[in-house]
Amino acid sequence: MNEARHDAARVLIADDEESMRFYVGSLLARDGLAYREAADGEETLQLYRSEPFDLVILDYNMPKKNGLEVLSEIMATDPQASVIVITAWGDRSVAVEALSRGALDYFSKPFDNNEMRIVVKRALERRRLLLRVQDLSAQLSERYAHGRILGGSAEMRRIYEVIERVAGNDVTVLICGESGTGKELVARAIHHGSPRKDGPFVPVNCAAIPDTLLESELFGYEKGAFTGAESQRKGKFELAEGGTLFLDEIGDMNQPTQAKILRALQEKEFARVGGHRNIKTDIRVVAATNKDLAKAIEAGEFREDLYYRLNVVTIYLPPLRRRLADIPLLVEHFIKEACKSFNKDVRGVSAEVLDAFAQYRWPGNVRELENMIQRAVVLAGGPLITLKDLPLTIMRESVLPASTPEVESPRAPLAAPAGDGRIKNLQDLAEETRDQVERAEIGKALAATRWRRGAAAELLGISRRSLLRKMKKYGLE
Ligand SMILES: Nc1ncnc2c1ncn2[C@@H]1O[C@H](COP(=O)(O)OP(=O)(O)OP(=O)(O)O)[C@@H](O)[C@H]1O
Ligand SMILES: [Mg+2]
Repeated sequence: MNEARHDAARVLIADDEESMRFYVGSLLARDGLAYREAADGEETLQLYRSEPFDLVILDYNMPKKNGLEVLSEIMATDPQASVIVITAWGDRSVAVEALSRGALDYFSKPFDNNEMRIVVKRALERRRLLLRVQDLSAQLSERYAHGRILGGSAEMRRIYEVIERVAGNDVTVLICGESGTGKELVARAIHHGSPRKDGPFVPVNCAAIPDTLLESELFGYEKGAFTGAESQRKGKFELAEGGTLFLDEIGDMNQPTQAKILRALQEKEFARVGGHRNIKTDIRVVAATNKDLAKAIEAGEFREDLYYRLNVVTIYLPPLRRRLADIPLLVEHFIKEACKSFNKDVRGVSAEVLDAFAQYRWPGNVRELENMIQRAVVLAGGPLITLKDLPLTIMRESVLPASTPEVESPRAPLAAPAGDGRIKNLQDLAEETRDQVERAEIGKALAATRWRRGAAAELLGISRRSLLRKMKKYGLE
């Protein structure tokens, strides 16, 4: 390889004339490009298969295999390859054939130096964009692959297993969980892990669309179906063709729409509003709800048959307060993301913050944590997020007993229990207080050691066994 910058684009020059290779090479080198040479068709293929190249410049007239044959073989192994073909002057038919076999461009001998350099530059630019697009779409898939659903708690690991099991086939999945627990993230992970991943993922938030519009939103409408329907429009069922339809907040749908969805799922076809033709569908449905559908069925608000149709497999996402073990990991991740977005350099949270997090109720779950971290990263004056960067609610609404009235510092675990006026038995009081303090300290130790029980027990100065016992007692598992 010629001397060139380390990160330079790599070009393969294939020509049987040594003087030609030398000439083209020196032009490339002038532009800082690295190149290798091959003297016949076979050597070209051999080299191409053994090293990565960003561009191949192929002479048409070569021994062993001509340029067009080599071109076809390269395109067969790598349809994204960038190849430029050099033809003899006036040989338009070879040029056209080269383009039709996938060459990016061509030039004819003898060529103009500047023309060649421009063609090369353009080809490399296209190559760079192509790699960038590939990189971005890989990032996108990765974002929703469950590599991006964070959490190492036993609950979350079980969920990854289920996602893996269901993603591969078309079973309908119902995802249940409180708001902000990651229902949409899981739905996307199922889609991206499925054979439909290159098809569309179409979310519909059934709660956000008024009942009267939901039906046409889902199934589309024909021109003239109602006043204002001036042209035909496709609905989400049609837009999701070949992909996944994510029916979000299905607990909030009226009965007629429920009936229509049921029918569409059963028959795998539907008609647009105001239309008579049935349209076949090939979609996978994933649904989500933060409601207790069993209760809604009992109350006659949700169709039982639709429920069974949707609920072939259920994934229940636990609220964040039930998997406190995942908090440190999520915090670390959200800090990194926020630092990137806001161009800040925050490294972590103080021990008090982790402590407060472990005691908070998290009604908004992961979404609330994410928002809180974003805000804190923006506010943080130094490398650590401290209590003063958090909203006050987190201190008021801790899971711990309401023993801490309007506290300035949540680090006052011994603050007097809120009296209800009655005199307490001192023995009970001591026990209660000890439990509170113990629970808080154990929570801190677990958070600090990322739930390595041995290490936490050591910090607390108790045996592993008694730590496990206490964790069970305080519901910290
Ligand atoms: N386990 C997780 N790991 C990483 N990020 C998560 C996780 N769970 C949720 N998030 C993030 O939290 C936010 C809320 O997640 P998502 O929108 O999937 O929740 P949801 O259950 O659909 O919420 P809602 O009921 O409010 O629609 C998103 O930004 C998501 O990326
Ligand atoms: Mg959602």
